[in-house]
Amino acid sequence: MNVLVTGGTGYIGSHTCIQLIQQGYSPVVVDNLCNSKKVVLDRIEQVSGVRPIFIQGDIRDDAFLKSVFDEYTIDSVIHFAGLKAVGESVEKPLKYYDNNVSGTLRLVQTMEAANVKSLIFSSSATVYGDPASVPIKENFPTSATNPYGRSKLMVEECLRDFQHANPDWSITLLRYFNPVGAHTSGLLGEDPRGTPNNLLPFVAQVAVGRRQKLGIFGNDYPTPDGTGVRDYIHVVDLADGHLAALEKMAHQPGTHIFNLGTGQGKSVLDMVYAFERVAERPIPYEFKPRRAGDVAECYADPTYAEAILGWKAKRGLNSMVEDTWRWQSNNPDGYGD
Ligand code: NAD
Ligand code: WQD
Repeated sequence: MNVLVTGGTGYIGSHTCIQLIQQGYSPVVVDNLCNSKKVVLDRIEQVSGVRPIFIQGDIRDDAFLKSVFDEYTIDSVIHFAGLKAVGESVEKPLKYYDNNVSGTLRLVQTMEAANVKSLIFSSSATVYGDPASVPIKENFPTSATNPYGRSKLMVEECLRDFQHANPDWSITLLRYFNPVGAHTSGLLGEDPRGTPNNLLPFVAQVAVGRRQKLGIFGNDYPTPDGTGVRDYIHVVDLADGHLAALEKMAHQPGTHIFNLGTGQGKSVLDMVYAFERVAERPIPYEFKPRRAGDVAECYADPTYAEAILGWKAKRGLNSMVEDTWRWQSNNPDGYGD
């Protein structure tokens, strides 16, 4: 069964392609390579024994997208393609609305024309804004604190309206918490361009000697050790969540919303200490002021996904950190040039 995977050479998309192949699906990858590299396809093949079909192009290019649906019989779409740097979205909001919102609308229009009615969308815990309490359930109020988050919220709302008007469609909105980790093979992982925005890639680059020191944004939050608390989830667990959504929801009409998290909150210092243990070296850090827009605590109530999808995160903090370290130490410069 062909599954169109937009953004399939990216961090989460590449891990999902491996799980898809291992479950007997045929991923058809579309990516414009604005934030990923072609060598990822070699790595997917090395791990899974199958090279996914890859068509380089932009989801905002209608003629290109139509040609993909004309050439391949697509059963469902998993839509990862998008931009994700929060800070950049504040500087360049239109770039984010164009890529994330307009790109998704074009994709759905092309799907409609091709009579493909099953979509899984990469949403984010960012749609909960600053939550009134934790753990966060799917029915909590949503809001946005930056253009990236607003682009995800807008897409969620557009898709909900569209599904309401087209009740035979199945649309699944997966709200990821904090994806981390890498494939256990050490062949695939996260390879951010420039200075990493996210915590674990930054820590990994300090550990491998690419950066001198981690700045910890705030140690005066109302949390057990004063640093921010998040729900870090292993990227392979996240990929498996997509498989579960595909199997259980892809042919169930409706708009379905799931949190994909572990339900466990970990602080910045928890992550630093775990990395020091695994990499057997100190991670120098200094406390810095809070980062604008950060919340004190954000972690999921993942029980709805377990009840409906039969999916639950299996990999704990040690696996997340060990797999990140294997990837980073085997590939100090990521996928290279
Ligand atoms: P990523 O940047 O590694 O992957 C996204 C991929 O999409 C890249 O390969 C990029 O080249 C491609 N892409 C971007 N715009 C495109 C376009 N217009 N046409 C074709 N390809 C395009 O990011 P990721 O971490 O794998 O995230 C995947 C999705 O999950 C994104 O939509 C992101 O917003 C969402 N998400 C990510 C996180 C996270 O922390 N990583 C958390 C929540 C949600
Ligand atoms: C985690 C914790 C920081 C970097 C972001 C997006 C969110 C989602 C996931 C896409 C926080 C602290 C970080 C550093 C630090 N992405 N930190 N020093 O902010 O929870 O979520 O990625 O949808 O939308 O906002 O993740 O990894 O940036 O930060 O102290 O150099 O680490 O303050 O407490 P965040 P993160």
